[in-house]
Amino acid sequence: MKIGENIVQYNFPTVIRFGKGASDEIGPHLLSVGKKRALIVSDPGLTGLSLFEKIMSKISQQKLEGIVFSSIDKNPIEKNVLDGVEAYKQQDCDCIIGLGGGASMDVARAIALKVNHDRDLFDFDDSKGGDKYVVNDIPYFVTVPTTSGTGSEVGRSTVISDDITKQKKVLFSPELMAKRVFADPELTMELPSFITAATGMDALSHNLEAYFSKGFSPMCDGIALEGIRLIFDSIEKASSSADLESRSKMMMAALMGATAFQKGLGIVHSMAHPLSTLYDTHHGLANALMLRYGVEFNANACEDRIRNICQLIGIEPSVDCFLSHLESLNKSLDMPLNFKEAGIIDPDIDQLSKLALEDACHQCNPISVTLEDFKSIYTKALG
Ligand SMILES: [Fe+2]
Repeated sequence: MKIGENIVQYNFPTVIRFGKGASDEIGPHLLSVGKKRALIVSDPGLTGLSLFEKIMSKISQQKLEGIVFSSIDKNPIEKNVLDGVEAYKQQDCDCIIGLGGGASMDVARAIALKVNHDRDLFDFDDSKGGDKYVVNDIPYFVTVPTTSGTGSEVGRSTVISDDITKQKKVLFSPELMAKRVFADPELTMELPSFITAATGMDALSHNLEAYFSKGFSPMCDGIALEGIRLIFDSIEKASSSADLESRSKMMMAALMGATAFQKGLGIVHSMAHPLSTLYDTHHGLANALMLRYGVEFNANACEDRIRNICQLIGIEPSVDCFLSHLESLNKSLDMPLNFKEAGIIDPDIDQLSKLALEDACHQCNPISVTLEDFKSIYTKALG
């Protein structure tokens, strides 16, 4: 598409307060907009950490009442959302804080959607145009990320699974964007090496797939490129030590990846999602595993873009060099390069490929992809 030929819409994030200590502003901000009782939606893994205690103690010093809701599954289900709505209403809350990683944000955003909407939660399914039912007020909603990966703190959608079938549904509306994001890199300082590396590889996959995707968005491309540069510059140091500067760069790059991927994602995410569904593989690790193979498959269509990235990160501008660089990165981060290294023995390639084809992310891939293509790529990754 030639620039200016068609009208294109861009949606960029809400107010982001970024930097060390930004989480101190949660209480004062909510009080300043007249809120008094917040439902704090977090995951059970986080509520036991000293970091969570610190945030809670700051909030209570600031005279904002915080009611913790953490009955959240690893892959959130409808029941989590309905229980959260009940807690919000019973406790007479007037705002919602999504605190944590992707699961916390998803449930917090879905609770915000459901509080003033009586329809069935899955009536808001994006694939059925459900956003037309988002007509009532959404409670004041802010997000506080504690990982640098999904970037869902700046997102407008939430993924909730059916309680029985476990089928994932995407609920989307521009109204679901947080009113304010408190991105405080200090909150990531206690994260262990594996989580920093795996979530960071998710952020790298977002930025790379957005940059390669076939949508037209020079704004997203610019954001993705700088996100890619920040990650190559900082992910190894951030994963090997609790270094504030490199962890800050990773947090920024995660925000940038989720901003850029409104342009679209690609086959890496389509191949990663079934690994989590069938083998419970961590989402970031699944992306780290499939990234090299996805880039190789797309290389012919993205050669110029791959050269641009190489120049930006200071390596020889060629597809081969970039693929080697990705492999070295995985090795240095202790991320798997094949199924064997990921502990997946004898994977069901047919079922993985079927699910990958059903996944929506590859619709934005620069090259269209078939069931046979997915089988071939997964087979290459056997090791
Ligand atoms: Fe992702």
